Amino acid sequence: MNEETTRDEGSLKEGALDYFHYRGSVERAREVLRLFQAAKKAVAIYPLNHEICLNSFAEFMNGFRDFLARRDAFSLHVVGDEFFFEGRLMARESVLYYQLVKEFQAKEIGGLNISAGLEPGEFAEFLYQLNRSAEELRALGGLKQVMAASGIANITIDEPGTWKEKPPEAREPSTAREEYYDAVNVIRELADQVVSDRRLSTGKANRVVGVMLNRVGENRSAVLGLATIKSYDEYTSFHSVNVLILSLALGSMLPLDRSALMILGTGALLHDLGKITIPQGVLTKTGPLTAQEWEMMRDHPARGADILLAQPGVHPLSVMIAYEHHARYDMTGYPRIANKKLPGLFSRIVQVCDVYDAMTTTRPYQRARTPDQAMRVLVKEMGSTFDPLLVKVFIDMMGIYPVGTLVRLASGETAVVYEVSGDPAWPRVKVIRDAEGGEVEPYLVDLARLAEKVGEGGRAIMHSIHPEDAGIDPQDYL
Ligand SMILES: [Fe+2]
Repeated sequence: MNEETTRDEGSLKEGALDYFHYRGSVERAREVLRLFQAAKKAVAIYPLNHEICLNSFAEFMNGFRDFLARRDAFSLHVVGDEFFFEGRLMARESVLYYQLVKEFQAKEIGGLNISAGLEPGEFAEFLYQLNRSAEELRALGGLKQVMAASGIANITIDEPGTWKEKPPEAREPSTAREEYYDAVNVIRELADQVVSDRRLSTGKANRVVGVMLNRVGENRSAVLGLATIKSYDEYTSFHSVNVLILSLALGSMLPLDRSALMILGTGALLHDLGKITIPQGVLTKTGPLTAQEWEMMRDHPARGADILLAQPGVHPLSVMIAYEHHARYDMTGYPRIANKKLPGLFSRIVQVCDVYDAMTTTRPYQRARTPDQAMRVLVKEMGSTFDPLLVKVFIDMMGIYPVGTLVRLASGETAVVYEVSGDPAWPRVKVIRDAEGGEVEPYLVDLARLAEKVGEGGRAIMHSIHPEDAGIDPQDYL
C-alpha cells in the first residue's frame, strides 16, 4: 500500500488497468484449459467427426480466440503436480484436472504451447495423438515425433523439467482457496491409501480439519463460499471437503468447542470413505440401480465405519458419523439402527450438510439444484429426514440465498451473493452483468442499505438463476 501512494495518479491507473488486463488473461487461460480438457475427453469417447467432438472443437476455438485478444499464444507448464500459466500457479485447475497433469507427466509433456495459427482440424489431430496411451507413444518414438509426422505445427510441447518451480518464498502466501485444494488432495491421498493397504494417516486428516477450522473461525462467510466449489468428474473428494466445511461452520454456530469440532470435522471429512468399496460405475450410474447395487450403496456407511474403526487415533464419535450419516432423523434410513431414537448430534449435523452439498452438485444422474431450491428441500423434510433445529440454524447461517448463488436483481442486473450477514434476505452481492446482460467490471453492493431496497433502481433479489443456464461460474467471482 505504501508503495502505491508514492506513485502518481496516472501510473496508478495504469497499474490498475494492467492488473485487470492480467486477471482477464488468467481467467481466459483457465477457460482455454477447461475447453481443452472437454474436447480431449470428447475425442477419447467419440469418433473425431462426431457432432459432440465437432462442437467441442468449435467451443475450444472460440475460447482460444477470446484468449488471443490479450495474448499472442497460449503456454501452459507442468511443474511437479501442478499447472502454471505465465509463472502463476493454477491451483484450482491443478486439482480439477489432476488426471490431465498425471497424463502429461506419463507422456513426458513439460509444457504445452498453442500458437495463433491453429486450425480446428489440427487441434483434433493433436488430441487424437495425445490420447494414445503412454506405451503406444513411446513405441512410436514419443509424442513430439508423432506430432511432427502428423504435420502439427501450431502446437508444440516442451520437455519435462524445462520449467522450474519458483522458490517457495516467491509464491503467494497460501490462500483459503489453496487450502481447499490441499484438502481435496489429502482426501484423495487418504482414499488411495486405504484402497492400497487399508491404513489411513489420521495425522493428515487432522491437519486438514485443523486448517479448515481456523478458516471458519476467521471468516465463516468466506469459507462457505469455498464450499460452492464442485467437481463433476471427481465428486467424492470435493464433496467430502465441502461437507467438512459446512459441518464445521454449522457446528461452530451451535456452538461446539474446538475439540468437539475436530471430532465432528474428522467424521465429516471421512463420512463417505466406505464408498471406496463401491465400483465407480455404480456410483455414477444414471439408470435405476439393481437390487444388488442398492445393497452395495446401503452398505457404505457400515463399510466406512469398519475402515475407520480399524485406524488407531480416530475418535469413536467420528466413526459414528460415518455409520449414521444416512440414518435420517426419524431413523427410517440406512443402516437400520435398533435401540436408538435419534442419530447422534454430529451425525445429524453431517447429514444436513451432506444432503445440501449433494443436491447443489450436478451429477451424472441429476442437474444441480440452485442453493435456494436446496434450502427449500431441507425445510420440507424437517422432522423426517433432518433435525428441524439444525435446519433452522443452517438457514440462519447460509441465508435465504447462500454465498455463491447467482441471482437476478429487481434492477435487471445479474449478481453473485458474496457475503451473508445480518438480514439473510439482503446479503452483500457482486454485480457482474448490467440490466442488458452486458459484462461489467464486478463490484460489490450491500443490499442491506436502504437505497438499494427501495425506489427506482432498487436491487431486491428477484430469483436465483441456474449457473448452467447463464453460462456463468459463480466461483469466478468469490
Ligand atoms: Fe454417504
